[in-house]
Amino acid sequence: KSLKIIEVKSELGAGTRGASLGVDAIKIAALDFGSRFFKKHKSVEVPNENHLLLENTGSPFAKRISGILTMVERVADEVTETLGRNEFPIVLAGDHSTAAGTITGIKKAFPKSKLGVIWIDAHSDMHSPYTTPSGNMHGMPLAMVLDEDNLDAKVNELDQETLNYWYQLKNVGKIAPKISYSDLVLISARDMEKPEENLLKKNKVKLYTTAEVRKRGVERIVIETMQYLDQCDLIYVSFDVDSMDPTASRGTGTPVAQGLTEREAGGLMSRFLAYQKVCCFEIVEVNPTLDRENQMAEHAFEILIKATNAFRNE
Ligand code: ARG
Ligand code: MN
Ligand code: MN
Ligand code: MN
Repeated sequence: KSLKIIEVKSELGAGTRGASLGVDAIKIAALDFGSRFFKKHKSVEVPNENHLLLENTGSPFAKRISGILTMVERVADEVTETLGRNEFPIVLAGDHSTAAGTITGIKKAFPKSKLGVIWIDAHSDMHSPYTTPSGNMHGMPLAMVLDEDNLDAKVNELDQETLNYWYQLKNVGKIAPKISYSDLVLISARDMEKPEENLLKKNKVKLYTTAEVRKRGVERIVIETMQYLDQCDLIYVSFDVDSMDPTASRGTGTPVAQGLTEREAGGLMSRFLAYQKVCCFEIVEVNPTLDRENQMAEHAFEILIKATNAFRNE
């Protein structure tokens, strides 16, 4: 099966500017390493909506939500077409809101399949506009695909237009919900707000902490995760680079202490990619404007290479 790189240079969902440069920073890292990776594999660029960054559109609780909807639809279509051609999509994106599009794309291509999600991230990205502390929609992609409002924890009052867009986002691809809480595994999540904590507890979401990964070892965690998701037909892996510790690099918008090492992250990604059920993965949130000497993009590129070298998809 051939690999197809889907480039999404979007940062509408982030609160700090610069994540849309992450994809190009990863390509620069590849050049610096003398790698032919981006010559060897086909790639396509999804047009972005970053002109909206100057408009200040949307509600304070769902910033630039109209542009996010457009992006999610475009990413979904590209992923669906890629899978339809029997190619393996690797999504390289700016901010994490694009993951809702990727998941939608997989579900549109395989509507009857049960989709599992492995979410490697410092955050659980499970806010809705009703609960977000920031209005930044990269904190919401899992709520979008879980069809989750979390009204029990409501703190924000929403206007009609925002509600309408939020409804469209949750129902994009005309499938809602797209995944179940029981088919989700979070790895290294360590910076959640109260409304997210409530959801994780209420729905008994499986979570491996950084300490657990370190103590029990990457190999064990991967095997257990795959056993836990045994009921799923297909699996998507989402890698937010802020899952890694800030000592590895400052090049991401929302860094959080107590993260994974590069080695642990690479080990997780390469082992997951060895499983046939894994049908797509995504790397997000590299922000070279916050970095020194392109460190985060270099780490991300190394992880990308490790993951694709382990790729054993028929
Ligand atoms: N929970 C915080 C918020 O909603 C941070 C989210 C960060 N998400 C990310 N994909 N980096 O604002
Ligand atoms: Mn994230
Ligand atoms: Mn994150
Ligand atoms: Mn490195």
